[in-house]
Amino acid sequence: MLDNLIEFFARTHLVVLHFPIALLIVAAVIEFYRALSPKIRRDGTAGPYHPGPTGTTLFVFGFLACAYTVITGLVFGFDDGERVDLHRILGIATGVLVLLTAIALLMARKPTPGASGRAYLILLTLTAIATGLTGHFGGDLTHGKGFITRPLAQAFGSATEATTQPAIVYTPQDFNISQNAFDTFNASILPILENACVECHGPDEAEDDIRLDTLAYVLDPAADMIKRDVPDHSELIYRIDLPAGDPDIMPPDDHADPLSTEQIELVRAWVHSLAAD
Ligand code: HEC
Repeated sequence: MLDNLIEFFARTHLVVLHFPIALLIVAAVIEFYRALSPKIRRDGTAGPYHPGPTGTTLFVFGFLACAYTVITGLVFGFDDGERVDLHRILGIATGVLVLLTAIALLMARKPTPGASGRAYLILLTLTAIATGLTGHFGGDLTHGKGFITRPLAQAFGSATEATTQPAIVYTPQDFNISQNAFDTFNASILPILENACVECHGPDEAEDDIRLDTLAYVLDPAADMIKRDVPDHSELIYRIDLPAGDPDIMPPDDHADPLSTEQIELVRAWVHSLAAD
């Protein structure tokens, strides 16, 4: 029950985060437009800058959504090494910046704002940039690095293509396995690995130098994940068939649910079928 609630709030982080990004960036654009066009400013002079009503409204909602996102991120974010650290540090920086911006806004709304109107403009811009960057690195975590640009890189044939699409077409003979084991890998095993492992063991991230996104990597003797002579001693089976909570279990405990019994049995049967070939 508590776990489910925590999971619920952790997931709202992934939804609400889109609001501060959009609201704060639009607020900054609107305020800048206003600051640069003196005609729109009520006093029509180049005196102290007074934040406008539209920008202020957007900022207030952006501030609330930003505070919610930063707090849920800090409370419910899990530890997943370096990549999360960068996202977390930027998230904290965004939280500090949005607070400073709010203070500058309150001061700028006083009858004698002095330089606080300009401070507000600058802080709002920095906050918008920090929010966008934090979201960008957060996106790398949930969708994998280069999620948005990858199709472009593939379309225009840059270097990324080589790492995501192996140019060589393999046959079962290349691995000395049966056609059946080859087909089973593509039909049932690869989808399991792609779903549960490739995010950390694939082209974007190869934890422990292990990749699981192609048969060639899975059977790579250097990776030593499959013992064809003693299948039950294979690291690939050992890592997925551990009790929940075991520090060695894959996918890692704090990251995702373990594979289902059915999936584990499919992988086990497949590894055993290699021994028979
Ligand atoms: C969230 C990231 C993540 C996911 C998802 C993940 N792994 Fe890992 N994996 C790691 C890390 C980090 C290590 C290195 C630390 C360790 O050995 O426990 C590792 C290590 C391993 C190793 C040990 C390699 C060796 O040198 O002995 C194997 C095998 C492995 N993973 C298989 C898998 C399989 C199979 C899956 C999917 C069912 C999977 N991993 C999913 C992060 C991940």
